[in-house]
Amino acid sequence: MSTPMDVASFDPPSFPKSEETTEFLLDALGNNFVFDSIDDSSKLQFVNAMQAQDFDEGDWVVRQGDFGDYFYVVGEGEVAFHVRGESPGGVPNDPPPQVGAGAKGSSFGELALLYNTPRAASIRAVTPLKLFRIDQVTFRSLLMSQRCQARSDILESAKKISIFQDLDEIMLCKLVDAFSIVTYRPGERIINKGDKGDVLYIVKSGKVKIMDGAIVVIAGEGECFGEQALITGDARLANVTAVTQSTLMCVSKGVLEELLGPLDQALKHCRRTKLLRLIPMFQCLERDEADRCVNYLKEESFKKGDKIFPSGKLYFILEGRALVMSNKEMYVPGTSELKSITEPKLTKLEKNDYFEDLLGSCQETCDTLQSPADLNRMNENTISVEDDMVCLTLLASDLECVVGDLQGFFARCLNSSNDDCIRVRKKSNSINLSMMKMHRLLGKGSFGKVCICLYCVSG
Ligand code: CMP
Repeated sequence: MSTPMDVASFDPPSFPKSEETTEFLLDALGNNFVFDSIDDSSKLQFVNAMQAQDFDEGDWVVRQGDFGDYFYVVGEGEVAFHVRGESPGGVPNDPPPQVGAGAKGSSFGELALLYNTPRAASIRAVTPLKLFRIDQVTFRSLLMSQRCQARSDILESAKKISIFQDLDEIMLCKLVDAFSIVTYRPGERIINKGDKGDVLYIVKSGKVKIMDGAIVVIAGEGECFGEQALITGDARLANVTAVTQSTLMCVSKGVLEELLGPLDQALKHCRRTKLLRLIPMFQCLERDEADRCVNYLKEESFKKGDKIFPSGKLYFILEGRALVMSNKEMYVPGTSELKSITEPKLTKLEKNDYFEDLLGSCQETCDTLQSPADLNRMNENTISVEDDMVCLTLLASDLECVVGDLQGFFARCLNSSNDDCIRVRKKSNSINLSMMKMHRLLGKGSFGKVCICLYCVSG
């Protein structure tokens, strides 16, 4: 019979062991489902509290139906598991038939301790045995304190996740209890493209790589993935692999909907955050900055033939196609004059590409121009819509509310370790690339990136 216990003040016993025995017991515990979500340092507490006990061949270590007093790991020897069945006449058979066997490293006796039920099987020493055992009170106290700690860790992580930010403490606790925690090794596959998916993942610690063809997004602590298949009910659209050792919180669509109601809004936010991260300049944003930017995003539709002047705005293409005049311009050395250094070229922008002129002044009252005369105004800052297009848009003034002065923000992007956005795509015969600094990025697509660059004569 179990009695209430004060987990916080419980002082577990400790039995000294060699390093080799400690390692062996840590491994052995790792093979029992009870310890699946328990990290090595917590497992060590169990190992320290284990005591060696010898049995002779033929001894019954555990008898089915008895009260559960210990959990055991086999250190040396072999055991047989027996479960009482019933003979055809309804008389219990004796001895009970053998249902399995265990050897060095296997463990048993956890069921009665965990669920406070009578022993579900009898265990016989097939050879002389050396077992390591831990008593019921220590086993349950350590397990409970470990679970309390893990739960409060998860709660803290969940509080930081944007899609759960509107939940009150009680809802959050319910949600936390619904999470399962899974750890992946570096390189291990988490999601396979094409699989059916109804689980949402949140990175508790570590980094994962989300790969859809050439598009690669890295998600870190507090970011979620797997939301798209949840929203659409379609197959998984990307492969996801652990980059570093990654601990993930996983929850199923059914449980989420029970707790949060329809998921569309929450998951849309999560998805938009990831799309925003595809744009190099947003890769240097802190997570809360990215969240706030996402709140400012608007969805806008454009018709085939529309012309867009992206002054003071960023456009991320969700659907459709557009053309951009992708001539490169840079400041003429020693002057403030902008000059084209290559032949202007029309380049196609499609899904997941973007264009922006965030530093341009917002002089147009509407984005689109319709008159034939407008066609003649097509220049490097004009985007021509080729197919009905849907974009996520972000106003420079809104971005400024999040990141402050945009010049400073671009400088921050430039200095951030993720320097992808400062590369100039094509080499010029006459310009020394090492002497150029990106002024701003006009757009990015399958063609590469179109940047306005400063040519620094002084280097
Ligand atoms: P417990 O019920 O505490 O004690 C007997 C243990 O035998 C049980 O936990 C399990 O660890 C182990 N066991 C091995 N095989 C079986 C089986 N077929 N059914 C139940 N318990 C089993």
